[in-house]
Amino acid sequence: MATISPVQRGLEDVVALESRICFIDGHEGRLIYQGYDIRELAARSTFEEVAYLLWYGRLPTATQLAELRARFGALRPLPPPVVDLIRRMPTDATPMDVLRTTVSALALFEPEEGKPGASSIGGAQRLTAALPTILGVFHRHRTGMPDLAPRPDLSQAAYLLYALLDRDPTELDARAVDVALILHADHELNASTFAARVTASTLSDLYSAVTSAVGTLKGPLHGGANERVMEMLDEIGTPDRAEAVVHQKLAQHERIMGFGHRVYKVEDPRATILREWSRRIGEERGNTAYFEMLRKVEEVVHREKGLYPNVDLYSGSIYSLLGIPHDLFTPIFAASRVSGWTAHVLEEYQDLRLIRPTAKYVGPTDLAYVPIQDRPG
Ligand code: CMC
Repeated sequence: MATISPVQRGLEDVVALESRICFIDGHEGRLIYQGYDIRELAARSTFEEVAYLLWYGRLPTATQLAELRARFGALRPLPPPVVDLIRRMPTDATPMDVLRTTVSALALFEPEEGKPGASSIGGAQRLTAALPTILGVFHRHRTGMPDLAPRPDLSQAAYLLYALLDRDPTELDARAVDVALILHADHELNASTFAARVTASTLSDLYSAVTSAVGTLKGPLHGGANERVMEMLDEIGTPDRAEAVVHQKLAQHERIMGFGHRVYKVEDPRATILREWSRRIGEERGNTAYFEMLRKVEEVVHREKGLYPNVDLYSGSIYSLLGIPHDLFTPIFAASRVSGWTAHVLEEYQDLRLIRPTAKYVGPTDLAYVPIQDRPG
């Protein structure tokens, strides 16, 4: 019998492939996109620039950036049958389910854009442009807001807010979301990106890969954590109750959402930046309760468990203050990460090898088949 390597549960520390897109230094707390530190990108760039960087491996010139912005604007509207489909969905559907089903449905109308190969960059831009529209059409459908009018003039961040809230956002609000989109755009071989790459590695199409990724991001141990953080804050209610609620959860061996990470052994640099934005938006709104509760939760979780915050701890507090409902937080994560998913799929298509690991079989191998009439009842 062939020897099998020891099992790495959860593929922890397994190096599955080479990539030029994203580097995480989990010990130094650094995150790099295509060579650029996330702190500099969050301070100085925009989501559009970052998407370009992830796809093309270099920062755009002013002309290239203007072209990409124009392309996003032009690619925002959905085919009418897809809009109809969304309007027929149950109004109590989970937005992540709506997103998954709609990305999959879009593939029926745009098979060319998703075809495997370098040319699927068109599909990558299409999906990135379209995700805010999908969320906007569904959210307006379920809340009775007017139909979504095309707004090619807005940045991705401002368009996302406009599509969900039906008003032009302030510059500060749009910048807060822009920074959040930059910070969520990619994260090496996280579970949803891995799912996308596995799908692409079978030479399946880009839309199928993104459909796999959306379904994977939905889980509470991945993108769904930001929504759960807000549920915890609702339960806490006021900063003075934070310590007691966290203690109670830890005593019941519950995981505290927004803490811990497979790769970071120190603070997630994205949490550091979002903490500052949570404070800033809270002060601007005259409501720092979320910020104060989160600071207290951080203090207790670090003291009791030695865990650091991850990207999901502060994002929800910002979105809530902007007036976005909780169940749209993970979809907003997807509206950013779609740029990273598609960059990875394009990379996979260029250096394709079927991803197919091995399992260590731990069951029997010598059972005798028993005819159905002879099996004990
Ligand atoms: N709260 C309480 N205990 C925790 C937490 C937490 N958030 N995270 C890890 N631990 C404990 C865990 O119970 C375990 O303890 P023990 O060894 O005593 O059983 C130990 O730390 C190691 O945990 P693990 O699950 O083996 O570590 P992992 O690398 O598989 O976990 C994680 C990574 C993100 C799944 C985990 O930290 C977690 O469940 N965090 C909460 C969910 C969350 O915030 N997810 C967002 C992740 S970042 C963004 C994203 O990927 O989308």
